[in-house]
Amino acid sequence: MCGIVGEVGNDQAVSLLIHGLKKLEYRGYDSAGIYVNDEHGQDYLIKTKGRIAELESKITDDVHGTIGIAHTRWATHGIPSAANAHPHVSADGRFYMVHNGVITNFKELKQEYLADVDFKSETDSEVVVQLVGKFADEGLSALEAFKKAISLLDAGSAYALLMIDRENPETLYVAKKKSPLLIGVCDGFNVVCSDAMAMLNVTHDFIELHDGEIVELRKNEIKIQDAQGNAVERKPFHVSQDASASEKGGYEHFMLKEIDEQPAVMRKLIQEYVNEDGTLKIDQELIDTIKASDRIYIVAAGTSYHAGLVGHELLEKFAKIPTEVHVASEFAYNRPLLAKKPFFIFLTQSGETADSRQVLNQMNELNYPSLTITNVPNSTLSREASFTLLLHAGPEIAVASTKAYTAQIAVEAILAKAIGMDNHDQAALDFDIRKELTKVANGMQELVDEKHKIEELAAKYLVKTRNAFYIGRAIDYDTAIEAALKLKEVSYIQTEGFAAGELKHGTIALIEEGTPVISIITDQAVAAHTRSNQEEVAARGANVISIVSESLAHSGDQIVLPEVHPLLTPLVAIIPAQLLAYYASEQRGYDVDKPRNLAKSVTVE
Ligand code: G6P
Repeated sequence: MCGIVGEVGNDQAVSLLIHGLKKLEYRGYDSAGIYVNDEHGQDYLIKTKGRIAELESKITDDVHGTIGIAHTRWATHGIPSAANAHPHVSADGRFYMVHNGVITNFKELKQEYLADVDFKSETDSEVVVQLVGKFADEGLSALEAFKKAISLLDAGSAYALLMIDRENPETLYVAKKKSPLLIGVCDGFNVVCSDAMAMLNVTHDFIELHDGEIVELRKNEIKIQDAQGNAVERKPFHVSQDASASEKGGYEHFMLKEIDEQPAVMRKLIQEYVNEDGTLKIDQELIDTIKASDRIYIVAAGTSYHAGLVGHELLEKFAKIPTEVHVASEFAYNRPLLAKKPFFIFLTQSGETADSRQVLNQMNELNYPSLTITNVPNSTLSREASFTLLLHAGPEIAVASTKAYTAQIAVEAILAKAIGMDNHDQAALDFDIRKELTKVANGMQELVDEKHKIEELAAKYLVKTRNAFYIGRAIDYDTAIEAALKLKEVSYIQTEGFAAGELKHGTIALIEEGTPVISIITDQAVAAHTRSNQEEVAARGANVISIVSESLAHSGDQIVLPEVHPLLTPLVAIIPAQLLAYYASEQRGYDVDKPRNLAKSVTVE
């Protein structure tokens, strides 16, 4: 959600910034803009609604600069339009600013300080640059005005801000609170970005910024100060990831590439977490801390929440600790009665989701221990939790999450096994994680190798339909709701994931002639019941599609799953569902990797 890049000191500002924006495209956006200044009196501001390609088409050959800022906007306050796109400009044309996040008290600030200013946009962001313009006009230096404006933003506000002063264009002013922002350290110039991926072509060394910090960034200087004005010295960390890991590598879409990568991710996780002798590379302190708790709370959003539902089954079975799973945005403001010794697990691909972060902040205030399971080292939720486990899935670029979901479940299985082993729990000791995840990897491979069959099913049942259902019971219900989310996200087919037994209590009224109902059947204990529910919908005209484990398959079942451990079936059952979603979107002619209205990393609540 919203990408932000800046650069100071390199005369190729335009190409550097546009490259950076393209690398952040995957996060989701609906308009884009750039401001560059050559420090000799020439500057350019270009903004557009739509894609970066449209922005590029408006950048003529004369546009150049040595300092610049650029932005992709995902609309929150005000429609997607060129006027609402960033950078925003102060009324006197002196200050240019891009902003990620939300200014919650923007209306009050407008009323109190800026009643006479003619605003050019409907955004909350513009208020900040107008405040800087006003305070500078009253005699403050650019830095003082920047700091004063920031001091007026209320506690609920979140921001990553970059600002250029047209009268003094050798400094990039930077500020951060809640929204992610990194300084990239280069030779002879410096960059700033909301995600390291944007600048891996020029540096692998990044400095993280903490909330409340302000930076003056120059060609050869990085001057950081904390909220109290004290100088901060911080060493860069190294990002070893190869820039090519975020390329499509011959695929038409990232989503399909990422679906195909899942067997390799399972193998990578075995390598990262399982020793040759079957012991696990999980920090003993983490195991001891979880064991000391009387209840685990898994908190997450979107697909990660669905991975948490499976984690609940794994943790209760092997770690034998009661576990609850919560949607982060609900938990933050409607907290259940907590156990005496809670332990929190935050599942988050990006490590930046504002809803989850809000809960982590609250739990940190209460001094409860926590673990973040994430794909992004050094991400905010990783830094702020007591422990981190990494997903090792490689960059996930498609907005619809695929390999991060399966990696999360695999890491939860490893963690549950580690705790159970430490307890000498027989079920955990018998759970041979290396063998089971290898079976999963092989099973996933068989399924992706047969993707043409799924492509045909999508063409037959999903190209025209208005709505669809996924049904399942027990662990298959967990998979069904993730499967439904995948399909609706990228194909815009209204899809619901339903507990198979619950359908008849109301929602069956929606079944019409030809409604696709896809059932997931991997749990022997409930297979016969789900089969009956299939019959009920078939009798009312539904097109029934079955995704069934081999041992439970009947003739006529369209998708047969290779056998894996009963608690790991979501790892294979989700593969055909991901492929159905992918092909339905592709066949309907949609932008598979960047579905409308969605953002990859949602940094506002
Ligand atoms: C967004 C993405 C989803 C993702 C969710 C949680 O809504 O579009 O794909 O599941 O955020 O993100 P996280 O990074 O915390 O897993």
